[in-house]
Amino acid sequence: MSELWPDKFFPKDLSQFIGNSDIVENTKKWGEQWEKGKIGKPLLFFGATGVGKTCLATLLAKYFGWQIFEMNASDTRTKDIIERVAGAASQGSSLLGGRRLIFLDEVDGLQGNADRGGVAAINKIIKQSKHPVILTANKIYGNQKMLPFRSSCELMQFKKINYLSIAKKLRELLESEKIEFNPEAIKQLAQNCAGDFRSALLDAQTLSLSGKKIDIEMVESLGYRERQQDIFKTLGQIFKADSVEKIRAARFKADIDSEMLFRWVEENIPRHFTEGNDMANAFERLSRADIFNGRIRRRQHYGFLRYSSELMTSGVALSREHEYGGWIQYQFPGLIRKLGSSKGLRNLKKNLGLKVGKLVHSSSHEVMARDLPFLQLVFKKKENAIALSAGLDLDENEIAFLLGTKPTTKKVKTVFDAAQGLRAKHLIQKRKEFSRLEVSIQPVEDLVPKESPEQAAKPEREEGQSQTRLF
Ligand SMILES: Nc1ncnc2c1ncn2[C@@H]1O[C@H](COP(=O)(O)OP(=O)(O)OP(=O)(O)O)[C@@H](O)[C@H]1O
Ligand SMILES: [Mg+2]
Repeated sequence: MSELWPDKFFPKDLSQFIGNSDIVENTKKWGEQWEKGKIGKPLLFFGATGVGKTCLATLLAKYFGWQIFEMNASDTRTKDIIERVAGAASQGSSLLGGRRLIFLDEVDGLQGNADRGGVAAINKIIKQSKHPVILTANKIYGNQKMLPFRSSCELMQFKKINYLSIAKKLRELLESEKIEFNPEAIKQLAQNCAGDFRSALLDAQTLSLSGKKIDIEMVESLGYRERQQDIFKTLGQIFKADSVEKIRAARFKADIDSEMLFRWVEENIPRHFTEGNDMANAFERLSRADIFNGRIRRRQHYGFLRYSSELMTSGVALSREHEYGGWIQYQFPGLIRKLGSSKGLRNLKKNLGLKVGKLVHSSSHEVMARDLPFLQLVFKKKENAIALSAGLDLDENEIAFLLGTKPTTKKVKTVFDAAQGLRAKHLIQKRKEFSRLEVSIQPVEDLVPKESPEQAAKPEREEGQSQTRLF
């Protein structure tokens, strides 16, 4: 299993840390004060995901040679862990005699029963610690639990990383991995990641797996993935969790609606739950969730959302009998991708339906459902294809669809050209008929008796007297 790039290319030291240089400088000074024995205020790193909050805390500890005592969101804040960390914080020095970094990662993930008392305990730690303390969070406003931390810590807001710096770093590491790339494509990739270094690394790794030169088209193929990194992370946390509380915490942190999460779970159950009966059990729970979703849709009874969202996450994850470690490659839901990429096809069918519908006096919908397969059959004969294409004024894409081939093929071109020829012939014929009609119709004025000089002097035409000619 290949190592994930965010881990593989984790900066070796502070000099490799990119962006937020003011924070790096200030935290270094803060560390130096601690080294001189001066107790400093705990730091609260906050900001968007993947910008290096956890990374900087780790690098600082390395820089000063501090031992890290860590507690993060994936630990349930059990009494044991809190006591262990609190104990480490209250003692004067570590076993080896050095300083410790008390690192409370992702404190905004504090949630539910498992963390009950966690906030108070952490508060106690940060107030009484004899060692440097760093907390991290994504959002610190609009969350009641963050209030005490906001007032007792020095706040350090991480800005998103400039895309040019991300692009530069990506180019370096792609070169070191001997992967060919188009520099413009890498710039685009970096831009798409909106300052999130982790997702830039993961995207670059995903594209490198193809073994081809990374070009703009490949980068664009990643374009549909809005906040995909977050969903990947959430999915892993949900599928690997061992308690409902952890799963709820993961869902709470994620920016994904219930329906979308359902699709992600559905798509990735076979990729994750590969042992024994785990897959069957997971799908069984998911289908129960779907039954509730159906009831919600039919009866507008949103109370059932409680059950469906619990079943499709905790129900699925906790039905497993085996543990799955390591990295699992999750996939974007196929159904959603199909709907996205088939938009053009759906539009084409709709337009075709409208054209045929006009002719047979049916709605586009009816034609699409009932007549299109029949039309495809009729199209198998070339003469029919030409005549119908001419009659319905079909374009190359529509002809290609009915012929079941690509618009660029010779077959399509032949039918299209012949159909256009037929239409032109038809138009010429029509025009001829019209012009014959024109000749045979006497001009209206010829039918009107010749005006007498007095009448001609009359300035205005009498009402109802038409001067219009047919053509
Ligand atoms: N500023 C940076 N310089 C160099 N590498 C970085 C930087 N920021 C992030 N990375 C890379 O991205 C990965 C993710 O960063 P990190 O875990 O520190 O993000 P974070 O800000 O803690 O995000 P989250 O809020 O999701 O926890 C790191 O493993 C590292 O490889
Ligand atoms: Mg982090």
